[in-house]
Amino acid sequence: MRVLVTGGTGIIGSLTGRKLAERGHAVRLFDVAPDPAAAARAGAVDVVRGDVLSFADVGAALEGVDAVVHLAYSLGEASNRSPYSASRLNVEGTATVLEAARLFGVQRVVLASSIAVYGPDDAYAPEELPLCEDAATRLAPGMPLYGAGKLYLEQLARIYRTTHGLLTAGLRPSPVYGPGGVRGVSGWLNGIVEKAVAGDRVTVDRGDARINLVHVEDVAEQFARLVELDAAAFPDRWFFNTGGDATTMRGFAALLQEIVPEARVEVVANGERDVAGLASQVCGGALAELIGYERRYDLEAGLRAHVDALRRRTQPRPIP
Ligand SMILES: NC(=O)c1ccc[n+]([C@@H]2O[C@H](COP(=O)([O-])OP(=O)(O)OC[C@H]3O[C@@H](n4cnc5c(N)ncnc54)[C@H](O)[C@@H]3O)[C@@H](O)[C@H]2O)c1
Repeated sequence: MRVLVTGGTGIIGSLTGRKLAERGHAVRLFDVAPDPAAAARAGAVDVVRGDVLSFADVGAALEGVDAVVHLAYSLGEASNRSPYSASRLNVEGTATVLEAARLFGVQRVVLASSIAVYGPDDAYAPEELPLCEDAATRLAPGMPLYGAGKLYLEQLARIYRTTHGLLTAGLRPSPVYGPGGVRGVSGWLNGIVEKAVAGDRVTVDRGDARINLVHVEDVAEQFARLVELDAAAFPDRWFFNTGGDATTMRGFAALLQEIVPEARVEVVANGERDVAGLASQVCGGALAELIGYERRYDLEAGLRAHVDALRRRTQPRPIP
């Protein structure tokens, strides 16, 4: 299959691209600002510079493509800081990709939504938790434009599928951690782990906040499997939670301190309930059943893998 990944050199796109390429698909990473390090990590892929806001760029990149993974988006709290450009990228950019895919005869588009479409745990009755896909979408109050854009994206996907015959589906990832995170919550978490591994003093703020975390390897595998899933197997539901592990930022810091004993991790807590209003109790069973894949990494295994990957990167190469 020939697959185009928009936002392709981000943390999720580069790994999704690598997984698909390793399975024999021809992968093209499409990014407005391709990150050479992420492109190198993705392995045997084609990388093109382009903007999802440009119909010409997207159309040219779609030449011969069978499936699109649409990830380009303005992340969480950054959307609050730049509402105009974020609205264009998140809404118009998504519509451009879907419309171009329809016109160019692409067979399927897999998209990234987010658990930011739900509200925080406190917005639900205890018996409504964990939040499954049919829970009310109340939006994370700390990132309302981001979450509202994801709801709009889900509706665009639904209309392109029901009215225009394009097979669409997607994920609602929990906050993603792992090496390569630069922006948003992934950048924040990766920054904490990088400092700990480097032996620098690191402060973890929002210590009391509850959070749900999923390792990037699992999310990339979930996206790759949606790309490969038999078209006949797609149910009437469009967007699925990735699932993840619930913890607090204090719990994350304690685990990091245990895995990196030499780290100097300090926690600052002020009774925060959550991170930017994101839910911490979400389920992931429906997706696991659909794609036949249970997440490989619980938080401890995932954080160990994250630390190991950073240690490998910082070790000097042997002299040949
Ligand atoms: N990382 C998370 O915690 C998380 C959680 C839930 C959902 N998601 C969603 O997953 C998707 C990917 O997230 P990520 O963490 O890999 O993001 P990222 O910021 O690491 O990557 C996004 C990429 O999109 C590119 N991009 C930005 N504007 C573009 C444009 N106009 N045209 C083409 N490319 C453009 C950026 O250069 C960047 O490489 C996003 O839609 C995000 O909302 C991420």
